[in-house]
Amino acid sequence: NGYGHAGASKLQFTAIPSVTADVDTVTVPVGFTWQPVIRWGDPIFKDAPAFDLAKQTAAAQERQFGYNNDYTDILEIPGSRGRRAVLFANHEYTNDAIMFPPSMPAADVRSVSQAAHGLSVVELERANKTTPWSYVKGATLNRRYLNSTCYELTGPAAGSALVKTVADPAGRWINGTLGNCAGGTTPWGTILSGEENFNGYFVAPGTSASDKRYGLTNKPTARQWELDDPRFNTNNPGYENEANRFGWIVEVDPFDPTSTPKKHSSLGRFKHEGANVIVAQSGHVVAYSGDDERFDYLYKFVSKAKYREGDRKHNMTLLSEGDLYVAKFTGDSPAAEIDGKGTVPTDGSFDGKGEWLPLVVGGKSKVAGMSVEEVLVYTRLAADKVGPTKMDRCEDVEPNPFTGKVYVACTNNSDRGKAGKEGATEINPRNENRDGHIVEITETGDQTSTRFTWNLLMVCGDPAQGDVTYFSGFPADQVSPISCPDNLAFDSVGNLWISTDGAPSGIGRADGLFKVTLEGAERGRVEQFLAVPRDAETCGPIIHDDERTVFVSVQHPGEEGTFEAPNSYFPDYVRAGAPVQRGQARAPRPSVIQVFRADA
Ligand code: FEO
Ligand code: CA
Ligand code: CA
Ligand code: CA
Repeated sequence: NGYGHAGASKLQFTAIPSVTADVDTVTVPVGFTWQPVIRWGDPIFKDAPAFDLAKQTAAAQERQFGYNNDYTDILEIPGSRGRRAVLFANHEYTNDAIMFPPSMPAADVRSVSQAAHGLSVVELERANKTTPWSYVKGATLNRRYLNSTCYELTGPAAGSALVKTVADPAGRWINGTLGNCAGGTTPWGTILSGEENFNGYFVAPGTSASDKRYGLTNKPTARQWELDDPRFNTNNPGYENEANRFGWIVEVDPFDPTSTPKKHSSLGRFKHEGANVIVAQSGHVVAYSGDDERFDYLYKFVSKAKYREGDRKHNMTLLSEGDLYVAKFTGDSPAAEIDGKGTVPTDGSFDGKGEWLPLVVGGKSKVAGMSVEEVLVYTRLAADKVGPTKMDRCEDVEPNPFTGKVYVACTNNSDRGKAGKEGATEINPRNENRDGHIVEITETGDQTSTRFTWNLLMVCGDPAQGDVTYFSGFPADQVSPISCPDNLAFDSVGNLWISTDGAPSGIGRADGLFKVTLEGAERGRVEQFLAVPRDAETCGPIIHDDERTVFVSVQHPGEEGTFEAPNSYFPDYVRAGAPVQRGQARAPRPSVIQVFRADA
């Protein structure tokens, strides 16, 4: 069936040469071109004003596409014969220093930055399958999810004393979502999004074990929303639990603009990078999720109920109840062979066995001294008690739909091996891990199994600069240099695609998108497809290789610049002296872009 073989995909390209980090363009392969699908500030409702960098208001931003799009997917609208689709994107955070004129009043900055967070759902259209997509202003499914949008908390923590506030005495209804990073699309066509760095939005006492473990401190936050809304300071009476209402996996139905989005407590609370679901042979659904923090853990959820093909209403309840596990990895090579530089052990691979340690099973806590509610709200503290493996910042974790093998992007860990910190092990084999690695997990038997084997698919870096790297035996002088893997995706024949965040400070190259062959003689071959503009990370890759089209979210372009001296002009490229056309901006704008054949 051509599974896993690069040649079986319709998307053929010649890898681009690695791009230096100061280049402010999107670099695509020969024969391809790119254009934005939607940009920060693009109006998505009929009454929304055109973007105007100099006159930003919260009222306008609430009706426009938000900032710093991360997880993105595009789902065809059934019955549209490929001519209409719905785009989902989340808006992880804002870069206030490059978004707003220095003269803008601080209170206005705060209100616009709040409105630039959240989620967006926008309809797309195209003339036919060979033409690029445009977004449809005012379309029926268009929706902004704002900090005032109500989410229903599901699962055992819903209604618990740990999540109640004066504004929600029931402990079930939460306004807003924060720090949304990666995500996943479920087999039933909903979107999952991970609430990652939520701690940065709260002032807290900072003294409890949980405040410390989740990075909550008693300092003013960067955006200071606590000045306008008491819930962002958990020192305030009645709001002690507000931060417990963030750090969840969110589920959204992009096909129903009136639906109530969910936060699923059964998947635990931590800095969820995202979550990805696969249906096991047994019919249960399994969700994998990483906690993106140095020395934190990898988790797996198994639903109590089974998937029913075609029963969307039922399937949308599957993530509300089930078992939660955390991963423990064991290597099979002697510790003496792990040199902390990433050199392969003498048995030829970084590999071993592992087990999923239970935290909650059958609705009961498996952690001594903690209730189910406590395990789910203070999941990091619960996991600490059962001895899981401390990882190098698990970002995206995604099962391959063709094989069920699970891929984990460990992006980097600058602290590994430093004084007082755990040193290199076979699963995290490099001290001061600058460039990251990819773990491949094979569950033993069914996807719901508590046992697995594992190996490293690659240890990243730039072999040409002398980095010690590993690409499953593929010759290092024939790969594109790659650093700081973040988001993962698969194409229609099962090749892995990796987008990166951090390569400029790693190998000194622009971040990008890379295809990795998984099967056959070319396993481990890395080919760079694109590079993003200056200071940007590459997010939310969508590989429609059957249509020879790739989409990525370009997040935080020009992040290191200032409003008055931009580091990037992506994607409008209105440079100093040139007139600004209506709807354009002389500033970097995070955007979703499409890359397609120029000759299509
Ligand atoms: Fe928002 Fe873990 O990257
Ligand atoms: Ca080994
Ligand atoms: Ca990420
Ligand atoms: Ca990242």
